[in-house]
Amino acid sequence: MSTHSKNEIDRRKILTAAAALTVAPWVGSARAQTSGSPASSLTTAATRRLGPFQVFPIGLGCQWRPGAASGAVNDLYASSTDRKDAINLIRHAVDRGVTLIDTAEAYGPFMSEEIVGEALQGVRNRVVLSTKFGFDIEPGSGARRGGLNSRPEHIRQVVDAQLRRLRTDRIDLLYQHRVDPQVPIEDVAGAIKDLAREGKVLHYGLSEPGLGTVRRAHAVHPVAVIQNEYSMLWRGPEARVLPLCEELGIGFVCWSPLGMGFLTGSVTATTRFDERDFRASVPRFAPDALAANMSLVTLVVTWARRKNATPAQIALAWLSARKPWIVPIPGTTNVAHLEENISAAALSFSADESKELDIALAAILIRGERLPPPVLAATGIEAVPRL
Ligand SMILES: NC(=O)c1ccc[n+]([C@@H]2O[C@H](COP(=O)([O-])OP(=O)(O)OC[C@H]3O[C@@H](n4cnc5c(N)ncnc54)[C@H](OP(=O)(O)O)[C@@H]3O)[C@@H](O)[C@H]2O)c1
Repeated sequence: MSTHSKNEIDRRKILTAAAALTVAPWVGSARAQTSGSPASSLTTAATRRLGPFQVFPIGLGCQWRPGAASGAVNDLYASSTDRKDAINLIRHAVDRGVTLIDTAEAYGPFMSEEIVGEALQGVRNRVVLSTKFGFDIEPGSGARRGGLNSRPEHIRQVVDAQLRRLRTDRIDLLYQHRVDPQVPIEDVAGAIKDLAREGKVLHYGLSEPGLGTVRRAHAVHPVAVIQNEYSMLWRGPEARVLPLCEELGIGFVCWSPLGMGFLTGSVTATTRFDERDFRASVPRFAPDALAANMSLVTLVVTWARRKNATPAQIALAWLSARKPWIVPIPGTTNVAHLEENISAAALSFSADESKELDIALAAILIRGERLPPPVLAATGIEAVPRL
């Protein structure tokens, strides 16, 4: 038997045993490694704990869709690249030590997972690979049928397709993208527990869930990570979500940690977004709200000067400083921006600086909702009770 296949069998045995545990196996553990985790060779100095994982403090979000031009790879905003450069960007991130890669079935749909899968060939074992299921997407064509679908048989189908696209034998962290109100979360967690027994999924998370749903899911199979929007621009998780994570030993990943680019200083009071730019439909970026919200950018730019850093670095370092188990996943199509974001891991605030910055931040009231109404309506949802 080759060493590779023996390791593979050992890994699956460990996973099967871990999946049988009913409590978060990492809670209270001095070493936050996943059994058989690809992150196990990392040094701890440059990493932080994220639920069961040890990861570099800054991850990489890969949320791309096809652009109008042939071969174009666009983000949700105004940035564009192509497939070759997107692959090179991910490889560059891994070479520089980034270990948390985030994507989703819905990004493209399928395109982002395909790019990530190709980029990780040969370096797969160096990263925590996270992706998401949960939207009702036609498996063959990738057409969105509208709405959500977390029925267990659909989850199984999606995971098998994701493993093929990602060119891997396991997903390290699989999120439910949005809670499906029609499917009891116990059924979702049960399906994932089965996938964990089979070694196809190592850990799971929830994105923008209702808090009762988190507790119910956690009782069936430990929730590893919650992924919600969190940034200097949107601090909603501080009230109830972060305390719940702390209580249950769940890691927290921040999406849109740069406020969809707003916190980088690239948006001004007079910026008007193209209709293909997602920000055109976001109330907090509507002209009146945008002008009012620029005081936050002024604050971030002031701190960037003071700390000899960039605004993006201030925004990311501020998140990292909130809790040792928080990891932002900035999205970028640009290697220079990637480098800048990675360097934020070396930036810290003294206790006095943190206090001063927090007081200044608290004085700024953000105007306008964080998401368009139909998108916002799908957040904080509780799954139907199991009868
Ligand atoms: N769970 C969910 O529901 C959910 C929702 C949204 C996003 N996400 C995840 O979160 C990730 C990040 O969120 P996001 O992309 O929405 O927002 P973000 O990370 O807050 O902002 C991304 C934007 O900032 C720009 N940017 C990045 N670094 C920069 C830098 N150093 N200087 C100047 N501009 C910079 C990018 O443009 P350039 O390409 O030009 O750098 C891009 O337009 C996504 O990729 C996705 O994986 C998850």
